[in-house]
Amino acid sequence: MTDKKIKVFAPATIANVACGFDTLGFAIQAQTAGGLWLGDYVEAWFNTTNQLQIERINGADMLPTNPTLNVTTVAANALLEAVGEKRGISFNIAKTVKPGSGLGSSSSAAVAGAFAANELLGRPFTTKQLLPFAGAGEQLASNQLHYDNVAPSLLGGFSVVRSNSETDVLSIPYPDDLWVVIAHPQVEIKTSEAKRLLGRTMSISNAVIQFGNIAGLVLGMSTSNYELIGRSMVDMLAEPKRKALIPLYDKAKQATLHAGAIGTNIAGSGPAIFSFCQGEHSAGQVLAAYQTVFASSQLHVKYYKTNINAQGAKRLY
Ligand code: HSE
Repeated sequence: MTDKKIKVFAPATIANVACGFDTLGFAIQAQTAGGLWLGDYVEAWFNTTNQLQIERINGADMLPTNPTLNVTTVAANALLEAVGEKRGISFNIAKTVKPGSGLGSSSSAAVAGAFAANELLGRPFTTKQLLPFAGAGEQLASNQLHYDNVAPSLLGGFSVVRSNSETDVLSIPYPDDLWVVIAHPQVEIKTSEAKRLLGRTMSISNAVIQFGNIAGLVLGMSTSNYELIGRSMVDMLAEPKRKALIPLYDKAKQATLHAGAIGTNIAGSGPAIFSFCQGEHSAGQVLAAYQTVFASSQLHVKYYKTNINAQGAKRLY
């Protein structure tokens, strides 16, 4: 028995990336005004019981401290069960991105739980093998197993989920000078509700448009073809229905494209909106365009100008 504490971090992410509903996502490098990375920080240590316990949650009200209902501990528990570990673990959780933001809050929480448990146990699994454990946490949060946020939070970079049911996840290259600008209006959208809004079917004609754009986006990323990335950021599935939930969405999209963004779309299930930009200068102009649009509202909006996080989850000590 040891009381050695470890601490891990799992970054925030942006899923869907316009056309890749439940299949595309990337990790972000953004920082809070106080200099913390956006995502989940989790401390973990063996306790003297054979139970999982959550000692403290900072940065989000209303998250359950019951370990069977919290995504961090559910993910950790999935790993402990897989190795037959009976010792209990205590957790301190600190979140710098709120649930219901569109920035993958439940996924970074789940990834941090699985990653922390793996570190504490002396790494019985490779990082990529942690996907299904983190997926168990994500499933609890959104009632559906999808890896488009989980995979990039764990692995870093840009992920393509070829199959959610087979946990077949690929990492693809992306351009060096790709910047991401995010506007996060401070309203909450629950992923499970945003999913229900979509219904269960899509027309063949829309599906054909979507297939073409997914292929174009993946090719554009892999070959650093900014123009191809931009014209592939078209979504026939989620954006038409979900944009009504996001204040000033159409105006923000129009203004950021006019200011030079390569593409603008909903981050995950929203309400955060993101734009891709080529280079930091362009990202600054796009950020200013967002600020102008939201200045006309009473909303509190957080802004980030950032790059893709290449590393994913990591141990801090
Ligand atoms: N792919 C998920 C969705 C991401 O759009 O519902 C949730 O952030």
